[in-house]
Amino acid sequence: MKKHKNIEFNIKNVGENVVLEGWVAKKRNLGGLVFIDLRDRSGIIQLVVRPEQKDYDLASNLKTESVIRIEGNIVERESKNPKLSTGEIEVIVEKLEVFSMAHDLPFEISEDTTALEDTRLKYRYLDLRRNSLKENLITRSKLMHVIRNFFYEEGFIEIETPILCKSTPEGARDYLVPSRVNNGNFYALPQSPQIFKQLLMIGGMEKYYQIAKCFRDEDLRADRQPEFTQVDLEMSFVEEEDVMSTTERLLAKVFSEVKGIDLKLPLSRMKYNDAIRDYGSDKPDLRFDMKIESLNKIFKDTEFTVFKSVLESSGEIGCIIVKGSASNYSRKEIDKLTDFVKTYKANGLAWLKYTESDFSGSIRKVVTDENLKKIQEQFGIEENDLILIIADQYKVTKTALGALRTKLAHELSLIKKDDYQFTWITDFPSFEYSEEENRYVACHHPFTAPKDEDIDKLISDKANCYSKAYDIVINGYEAGGGSIRIHRAEVQKKMFEALGFTMEQAKEKFGFFLEAFDYGTPPHGGLALGLDRLTMLLVGTENIRDVIAFPKTASASCLMSECPNRVDPIQLKELGIEITKKN
Ligand code: AMO
Repeated sequence: MKKHKNIEFNIKNVGENVVLEGWVAKKRNLGGLVFIDLRDRSGIIQLVVRPEQKDYDLASNLKTESVIRIEGNIVERESKNPKLSTGEIEVIVEKLEVFSMAHDLPFEISEDTTALEDTRLKYRYLDLRRNSLKENLITRSKLMHVIRNFFYEEGFIEIETPILCKSTPEGARDYLVPSRVNNGNFYALPQSPQIFKQLLMIGGMEKYYQIAKCFRDEDLRADRQPEFTQVDLEMSFVEEEDVMSTTERLLAKVFSEVKGIDLKLPLSRMKYNDAIRDYGSDKPDLRFDMKIESLNKIFKDTEFTVFKSVLESSGEIGCIIVKGSASNYSRKEIDKLTDFVKTYKANGLAWLKYTESDFSGSIRKVVTDENLKKIQEQFGIEENDLILIIADQYKVTKTALGALRTKLAHELSLIKKDDYQFTWITDFPSFEYSEEENRYVACHHPFTAPKDEDIDKLISDKANCYSKAYDIVINGYEAGGGSIRIHRAEVQKKMFEALGFTMEQAKEKFGFFLEAFDYGTPPHGGLALGLDRLTMLLVGTENIRDVIAFPKTASASCLMSECPNRVDPIQLKELGIEITKKN
């Protein structure tokens, strides 16, 4: 076994003989000497092969990324490299053994590589040799270690749940696995262990956790993978506060041990409706201010037809104030912002600038001086401020301004590095109206408990029912979410009715699960954190692929192993499957 890490050695080891193993990160022939940067997982150490060494020719012909072992003697370097912990020394090679000579590489392995991501994904094992990817995986491993310790100390038991199972109720499409033994039948891969963890509570486990693989066939984004990992927990005899404070203690331990950051507990909380009102999102990024303001009152008597008709149809005139940035946004730049908000269904973007103590902008002529004065006073408008306004349906105005707020914060570099802002989002509505289905659907899954005071409204006043659900949001990411579950049969029945299921339909879908509730169910609740997202936050990347050893592309394929792929017709026959349409 390898005895040493490269970075164990420094000036204090001068004179020692060592055996080292690793990869040739760089090789240079200089002044008759061969210099090699030997890389192992710990880092780099410089080797020197002198012409009089018997292995000199072998060293001269080494290709980068070959794997070698050397024996040699540590000496002090003449020209030191302060960037490396081993930068004051080098190893004079006395013996060189080549374990494996590398071919020419498909791309250069360096932090500032210009290789396309697709190439790097095809040769992921080479990309993993880059320091940043390696460090990300080390952080992920440390995170998992801290999590396991936390749950062990808090008396949780780690229990694995099936991967081949029945469809789970998270709302995305399932990945299906055909059964050979039960021809024509399918397993679904779990979208989460939701049903099983509730059954574990019914089974008397009281405190469960699992670092669980989940699978969802949904549109992928920078923070979404088809196959991802949850830190999943469930507890019996709890209320919202208990699950939230357990999660907070876990996050505090993670941030302290992985980042050296002390979180102030309890974390802040925000109700869902307030988050939408102020930030246009249920995952607000609180690292910068720029709240969404309402102009409805100021414009209540306006004659400007666009605003007037929006107010008449109970819409919202909202704005964000971009402090000190009027000069950063030319008309052309604002046109680009307009195109951006249109992707969020907004009809347009009005704007005002305050420069040289005067207002200008797209709606300057249609807004009265009196209203401009009110805007200035109410929002403390100062020289060089830019006001961006959307007038539309409430949800459209808020969502579009919320997205614009985040875009501008990035463009204007308003976000400090290594700043972490946490908030719980609570009091989610139980139902949301689906325009497509023309009915109310569950905001979370149908087992989420409604607030006690809203149980009576489940059928009669769906728009005003709120649930015992909570999400933990960090820097604008939904890092986790969960809820207290319904444990009373009569409430569950009401919930199904509210969602338009008959008990028969519910039984057909979740029968075994519902039956379990008939035999003694403790009050219970839980939460799941996205392990990948948490790692992204800890290492500071916006690309989920940077924290997964072997990720999938945006089209859910693995470029390295070339999956998904066609399978042998014999295999299909055994499964009783016929492909009728080939792409
Ligand atoms: P939810 O669906 O909110 O809740 O998922 C919990 C957390 O998992 C992460 N996550 C993802 N991460 C990467 N790629 C994805 N495709 C993806 N989808 C979700 C997010 C999210 O907050 N069973 C419930 C939890 C519960 O109620 O206890 C559930 O799965 O960080």
